[in-house]
Amino acid sequence: MLIQEQDIYIRLMQDEIQDYQLIAKWLTDAKVLEFYEGRDNPFPLAKIIENYKPMVIGEDRVIPCIFYYQNIPIGYVQYYLLNELPETDRQMYGLNQTDNVYAIDLFIGATKYWNQGIGTKILSAITTYLFEVLLAEKIVIDPHVDNARAIRCYEKCGFVKVKVLPAHELHEGEYSDCWLMAIDRNKSLN
Ligand SMILES: CC(C)(COP(=O)(O)OP(=O)(O)OC[C@H]1O[C@@H](n2cnc3c(N)ncnc32)[C@H](O)[C@@H]1OP(=O)(O)O)[C@@H](O)C(=O)NCCC(=O)NCCS
Repeated sequence: MLIQEQDIYIRLMQDEIQDYQLIAKWLTDAKVLEFYEGRDNPFPLAKIIENYKPMVIGEDRVIPCIFYYQNIPIGYVQYYLLNELPETDRQMYGLNQTDNVYAIDLFIGATKYWNQGIGTKILSAITTYLFEVLLAEKIVIDPHVDNARAIRCYEKCGFVKVKVLPAHELHEGEYSDCWLMAIDRNKSLN
């Protein structure tokens, strides 16, 4: 278990079929794919196992987690250290000086739970965990510029827009611009 507070609970994803099935259910739902991975890029079970198992068994630097709301699994969050990025990527993120910078990605897979403040609770909890337990100096997240709900959620958690990353991510056949958003340790723990 990573985090338990009030009605939310975040745990590491396990190398068990039920966990892979959960992610496959969510990442074959067009409503989710529209904002995460793309509707032209669904992840049925075999593809989930192929892509997520290396993370689950620790062969990949990305740490995959499942989160719960009121004891119901509703979504996925992953975090990873950016330290080992190539220098060009570090410069793109403006990270050439800073160590111990983490990135986060997340989605609520059970779409009826969108827009109820749960994403804000989950991201705030994982942000606090990364600062307090893993001693992150900075955390970044990079929503598509047109994902207004995600951007609003991240701003509510204290992330601020740093710069636009042009043509940052291939999404539904187009290279989309993303906002680089960041939160600093010294700003979050005051
Ligand atoms: C992004 C996501 C994690 C946010 O979690 P959430 O629980 O839905 O978000 P919250 O309810 O905590 O906050 C959303 C905020 O955006 C606002 N919002 C919703 N739709 C909006 C829109 N179209 N334009 C602007 N703001 C919008 C909400 O009103 C709320 O702000 P408020 O509290 O000031 O009213 C979740 O919606 C999700 O998983 N979406 C699909 C996948 C995705 O986009 N993942 C992120 C990829 S970067």
